[in-house]
Amino acid sequence: MFPKEWLSAKPIESFSTSVSAPANIAFIKYWGKKGPQLPANPSLSLTLSESRTLTEIDFKLQNKLSVELWFEGKRAESFEKKTLDYLISLSQSIPVLGQYHYKIQSQNTFPHSSGIASSASSQAALALCLSQLMARATHTGVDWNVASSLARLGSGSACRSLKGSFVVWGETSRVPGSSDEYGLDVTKLIHSSFHNAKDCILISSSKEKEVSSRAGHGQMKEHPFAQSRFVQARENFSQMWDGLLKGDWEKVGELMEVEALTLHALMMTSNPGYILLEPSSLEIIRLVRLFRKESGVPVYFTIDAGPNIHLIYPESAHAKVEPFVRHELIRFTENGNGVIWDQMGLGAK
Ligand code: DP6
Repeated sequence: MFPKEWLSAKPIESFSTSVSAPANIAFIKYWGKKGPQLPANPSLSLTLSESRTLTEIDFKLQNKLSVELWFEGKRAESFEKKTLDYLISLSQSIPVLGQYHYKIQSQNTFPHSSGIASSASSQAALALCLSQLMARATHTGVDWNVASSLARLGSGSACRSLKGSFVVWGETSRVPGSSDEYGLDVTKLIHSSFHNAKDCILISSSKEKEVSSRAGHGQMKEHPFAQSRFVQARENFSQMWDGLLKGDWEKVGELMEVEALTLHALMMTSNPGYILLEPSSLEIIRLVRLFRKESGVPVYFTIDAGPNIHLIYPESAHAKVEPFVRHELIRFTENGNGVIWDQMGLGAK
């Protein structure tokens, strides 16, 4: 899976680099995995522009592996432990990675307390920094597929935050070149009416999640509906793909909502079941559907593994969606001001 030059690469004395990587929002959800962090079904996401993690790493050669991780100016021990475990596991295939001290400084452009999943942007940023180190050590360029695979091993959805505005992860006969190992940039295939799609993120609650995504994926192993979910995800993917190619917002939007509610239904029907949605999340969903019905504006919702609602709509609808959010929805968000205005982005840099 890694380039063969990486396996026998010689270390360099020191190296510093910095990367900014975006969050992404899945239209078709990855929920359930197999093998070495491979997805049980293909997923598809929109890359965001404003919600990002900025990571700077100083690599210093030594005879063992150690990590010092600063998040928003403070030493962050839980991230440090997670990153150390990740690097130890990578160094088993890429020995040179076991010979550095890593000083990592990271920050998010969105408020840390906003409850937005940040593992995708932070793991993507870390993976691209590592790819740059290895490119320098082996006198090669950065291979985006390899960078995406490295990100995937940190957090599955992170492999969709490297390159491209629309990214497919998971092998499907509908998308030539798609792979379980890495995310594929499919932006060029997507109808222009989806370009510059907007994502207005409504923060219902920024409380720490009761159950992590990792644990939620784990519960899919024993889930009574797992197999039918994986069949349904493939069917939804295929139908949504047709809609994305044709510019059919209604079809894509309706399937996006089915995916979001299915994800939360799977959580509720796990054993033990759990609920991440807040009463305010449900109220927002109700109002969005009512607004769409009455106004005809193509605005749809999706939800990640948390209570926050993402409104997805074409750029041309912004003038109508903005006042709707300000007058009708904002009061259901945390402290009455929990809104992030985001849109389609291009990937990591
Ligand atoms: C609901 O990628 O956070 O956001 O691979 O265990 O790190 P791990 O899980 P993660 O799961 C994301 C789940 C999701 C859906 C999605 O982004 O496709």
